[in-house]
Order: sequence, then structure tokens, then C-alpha cells
Amino acid sequence: MPAVNDPTDLPWWRHAVVYQVYIRSFADSDGDGVGDMPGITSRLPYLRDLGVDALWITPFYTSPQRDHGYDVADYRDVDPLFGSLADADAMLARAHELGLKVIVDLVPNHTSDQHVWFQAAIASPPGSPERERYMFRDGAGPDGDEPPNNWPSVFGGAAWTRLTEPDGTPGQWYLHLFDSTQPDLNWRNPEVGDELVDILRFWLDRGVDGFRVDVAHGLFKAEGLPDTVLRDPDEDAPASMVEAAGVDEPMWDQPEVHEVYRRWHEVLAEYDDSEVGPRMAVAESWARTAEAIARYVRPDELHQSFNFHWLSAPWSAEAFADVVTETLASLAPVGAVPTWVLSNHDVVRHVTRYGGGAQGLARGRAATLAMLTLPGSAYLYQGEELGLAQVDVAPEDRTDPSWFRTKDTAKVDIGRDGCRVPIPWGGDAAPYGFGPAETGEQPWIPQPDDWAGLSVEAQTGAEGSTLEFYREALRLRRTFAETAGTDVEILPGAPDLLVLGRGDVVCVLNAGTTPAALPAEARELLLSSGDDPDGTLAPDTAAWFRRA
Ligand code: GLC
Repeated sequence: MPAVNDPTDLPWWRHAVVYQVYIRSFADSDGDGVGDMPGITSRLPYLRDLGVDALWITPFYTSPQRDHGYDVADYRDVDPLFGSLADADAMLARAHELGLKVIVDLVPNHTSDQHVWFQAAIASPPGSPERERYMFRDGAGPDGDEPPNNWPSVFGGAAWTRLTEPDGTPGQWYLHLFDSTQPDLNWRNPEVGDELVDILRFWLDRGVDGFRVDVAHGLFKAEGLPDTVLRDPDEDAPASMVEAAGVDEPMWDQPEVHEVYRRWHEVLAEYDDSEVGPRMAVAESWARTAEAIARYVRPDELHQSFNFHWLSAPWSAEAFADVVTETLASLAPVGAVPTWVLSNHDVVRHVTRYGGGAQGLARGRAATLAMLTLPGSAYLYQGEELGLAQVDVAPEDRTDPSWFRTKDTAKVDIGRDGCRVPIPWGGDAAPYGFGPAETGEQPWIPQPDDWAGLSVEAQTGAEGSTLEFYREALRLRRTFAETAGTDVEILPGAPDLLVLGRGDVVCVLNAGTTPAALPAEARELLLSSGDDPDGTLAPDTAAWFRRA
């Protein structure tokens, strides 16, 4: 069987479609209601047949799961909930056999409070080398009972928690930009940087193809930890990372962080010659401006950065065109390839963002087709190929720390559980083939009772299904993505039309409310996200054409 990633002149990641596997909710091999590593392995042929080039797996390391794996207790092992190191090795080997690349998640900004370093820190006195690995400070106010500064946690509440010292007295405070179980590391301590490089090497030696760098704009905090300017002093939590990145803040995007990525670049480059092929890293950097984000992908730093502007653009041809133009313009000076994404495990699924129902789905499919036209890499989130919408998870079933930290406050954040519901593979009722549990037994987040028609089984071979649409789009994308170069033209068209020209493919998206005349370049229809155009293109639809 030919490898999916045939060797070419361009490194694979420059034009890859990467499928995000949220491990807890992808496939459960043992019936405990939580997805796992053998579950992923068993479904790799599905990903190969879907037509993606790579998978990115969210954290599967030893963790108390307070933030579902983004609280790592041991970076060099697999949590028993998900399997073992041997299971991870088997998954990697099978993926490579099928021609799929594997990107793993790296969490360098913080550890779990159960990490041996943090346990040692709280058992050691203030000022000790153990405490120097984290951000411990004395409290403010006469008794030290106020937090050292006014920083809010992204998940709500203050970013500081006070320790009780081993002798029972109130002690120092530690910084956690996320949950109180996720203490921030002290990146001004060289031991931290060395440890993370060692962890990189541990996974590179096992053969991973790349890393997704969690909170890549975090790590360093401004010297002296000055107060930040709170946007709304009555509400102490930003609504999301998007909002959190809205202004210059002393906890994000500090210049020193780029030294770290230069060092990682060297480490990744060292592994380029091996059998596995070029390695890469993609940054989750919610930095304030396009220029600030571009700094993470300078030629000697990380290879890619998520571009969340496509995801946050409103449903408008002009807005989409602006995002394309601005993205390419910001990356051109550093020579980096763009990335595009509509959904991930932190945001409301795009079908729902676009209004839900039939219209939300139609728009989601259209936006996907436009995204797949663009140069660079596209990141898909598990379940979007099934057209899944956000699930309204009942309060008693919510598990996200941002829900627990805000539910009794003025600014309630219901959390991200609604986009993390285990995906349906087949069958008429929960768990819809997600795992071998008894029919009717719900996985870790309950699945809706109307998902039977959305399962992989139900959509496979079904004409017009979202799954078959994705398969066809990815198959066609392979015919041009690699050879069409790094440019895309924004061509003129009727108002509300987005017309993208890439190589000999033209994508037309109608963001208006009435059928629109097709531009002259749209010659032979290749694929439509909705009804086939017949002289005009229906609203909420996009189509690919061979270019005249
Ligand atoms: C990133 C992850 C998110 C996690 C947070 C803290 O934003 O995508 O899921 O909660 O970092 O690690």
C-alpha cells in the first residue's frame, strides 16, 4: 500500500491536514467510558481513509485529570486511564505504517500539583531550590494574606493560591494562570528549560513527528510581576483565551520566550535526518497581533502557529477575505506557512457558532471547503467531519475547571464540555460504538439521544453526508495542495462571494442570502458543500471548480 505521505521536496507539515484527537472522547477500547490509546490505534485506518496526513493527540501523560491531561504529573509516561508506554509505541508504529504522522501535546507553562517537583516544593521552605522551580511569592498586605498581584486565572478567580506550610501556618502563594492544580513553572530558572528539552528528546526518541505547544505565549512572566490592567474590574475572569490575549499583559508573550523556541528548533532539527523525517512544532499562541504571532514562527523558532482568526471571523465573505490577506501578509516577512482551523477542544463547535441547525451545518461545510483551499496546513477537530454541533451538557455532568471556578460568580463560564462529548461511531444508542460498554451506558460526558444518524457508520456511503463530503474534499485537496504553491488569489466576484484561486482550483463561497452568479473562472464543478450549483451558487454554500 502506498504511504499517505510520499516523500516530497516539501516537509510534510507545510501542506498537511492534521486531525485533532481529543483522547478522552475518540475511542474507548476497554469500556470504562473514557477514550484511550488502544482505541486510537484501532481507529487509525479510519483516519487514513478519511484522508488526513497527521493526527495531533491531546495530552495522555500521567495526570490527575483536573484539566483532562493539561495538568501533567509525569511527562514521560502514559496515564493508566489511557494505557501504557507500550500502547503509545504501538500506536506510533501503526500510524507510521499507515503513512500517518503523529503530533503530541507538550505542556510547558505549568505542571500538575501532583508532579514530583511541586510536591517537593511545598514540602520545602521558602527560598529553597525546590520552590525556585515554580512561581512562589510572599503575599501582599500586612499579614501576607492578599495575593502578590491582581492577575486573574484564565479559568476564573485569582491566579494565586496560598499554601498552608507543613507546620500548619499560612504560607507563601503560588501562581497558576489556569486551575489551582496547575502551578506555573518558573522559566527564569534554567533547570526548567533543561527539563523540557529532555522531555522533548524523550518523545522524539520514541519517534513522534511533532509537538503542539500548549500556551506557547505563556512560560515567561514580566520581571517583578507587575499588576495587569483588568478589563472589567467587577469581573475578574476573562471569558476565554481569545479575550485573555486581547491586550498587552505581563503574563503573556514576553520577549524571553523566543529564546526557548530557538533552542527547541535546534533540538528538532537534530532529529531531521532520522528515518522518521522532518519534525515540527506548532504553537498555541494567542498573542495580541498578527505580528506578535509571526514572531513565534521566525525561521529559527517554531514551525507553525495556530491561526485562530479564521475561527473567530464572522460569517462574511469580506471578513474571510481579510483574514486570508492579513494572515499571509503577517507571515510573509518570516517565511512561515499559515495554518487554518475552525474548531478545537476549547471552543464552541463551528456548526453551532454559525447558528446551529441546517444553516449552521451548511455554513460549517462551506467554511471548511474554503479553508481546505488555502495554502499551508488545516487542522480538523474530531467529530467535525460528522457535522457534530455543540452539546448542551447538563450542569451535573460538566467537568471543566472553568465551570467549577465560575459557577458561583457573576461571570459564569459553562466550560468546554459541550465540544468534548465522545464521538459516535455506530449503533442506535449511547455509547454509539464509542466503546464496548452496554447499550445505554453513557460515557464520561453523556451523548445526546439523537446522534444515531450522525455516526460514522450511518454516514459512510450515505449520499450528501458530511463525512462523505469531508472524504471527497480531502481526496481532491491531495491533488493540488502540495503543488499549488503557497499563494492564494482573492478574485473579484459578486457581493457576498468569497472567490479564492489556488493553482487550477477556484473556490466560491456564498455568504449572502440570495443565489449568486458564478465568476467566470468557475469552469468545471469539482465538489459542492451543498446543492450543486446550476449557474448560480446557493447561499451558505461553497464549491470547488476547475479554473477556466
Ligand atoms: C490550552 C489547552 C486547554 C487547556 C489550557 C491549559 O489552552 O488547549 O485545553 O485547558 O491550555 O493547559
